[in-house]
Amino acid sequence: MSKQRPIGIFDSGMGGLTVAHAVSHLLPEEQLIYFGDSAHLPYGDKSAATIQAYSIKICDILLQKGCKVILIACNSASAAAYELIKAYVGSKALVINVIDPVVQYVVAKYGQKRIGLIGTKQTVGSGVYEYQVKVQDSSIQIGSLATPLLVPMIEEGFHKNEISEAIIEKYLKNETLIDIEALILGCTHYPLIKPQVVKYYTQKTEVIDSSEIVASSLHQILEKNNLLAEKRIEPNQFLVSDITPSFEAATELFFGVRVPLTLHKLWE
Ligand code: DGL
Repeated sequence: MSKQRPIGIFDSGMGGLTVAHAVSHLLPEEQLIYFGDSAHLPYGDKSAATIQAYSIKICDILLQKGCKVILIACNSASAAAYELIKAYVGSKALVINVIDPVVQYVVAKYGQKRIGLIGTKQTVGSGVYEYQVKVQDSSIQIGSLATPLLVPMIEEGFHKNEISEAIIEKYLKNETLIDIEALILGCTHYPLIKPQVVKYYTQKTEVIDSSEIVASSLHQILEKNNLLAEKRIEPNQFLVSDITPSFEAATELFFGVRVPLTLHKLWE
């Protein structure tokens, strides 16, 4: 497999750009092809079967573009479709999700401890974090809470005011999340509210943002498979299945700089 092939990254919309940003920072020689399924967001409230159908369609596009890796930068799609995608993609590309690297991190650090998880209804309802952690270390307790108001709030850029702080606080006060040593931000949108979450816990609880953990795991996997690109030749591409000026504006929130989006429908 050629090292110079791009890395495909996908999410339901713009949230996965937090992961793409961490990857482009850590691995600047890699060409990224990002796909945001903006026509079908949010994924967090959809059934596993629907998320699987969208995910496979997106994988086809990324494979056609010759991606050497498909990074599922969405917890909901990682929870609902990872195994299916891996079977579908086979040996054509490596498939990485955003859950496994965080599970490794937690298992290495929080034996015998109680930790928390917030995410979409799909991610929390799937129980995948608890399952994966318990398989490796049954002494770790996880309290999970679905926090469905957070994604629309963040997508609207409505996350740095008293009302959003009150919503975040109301969720974090839930008894499921009492006495935790760490909180997993189990949705790729949530790095944007990390400062508010950190402020709530006043440093007593580690707030685990998966984007950097995932980027560093991707680095190790590329290195191990001798797939690290030597020099970037082509520019990054940002594809979306629906386009509006607000999607383009949102790229700045999630990626740090505004990036031009190209429309690529899932079904022509
Ligand atoms: N970014 C997605 C995730 O990580 C959530 C957004 C959505 O519900 O589509 O789960």
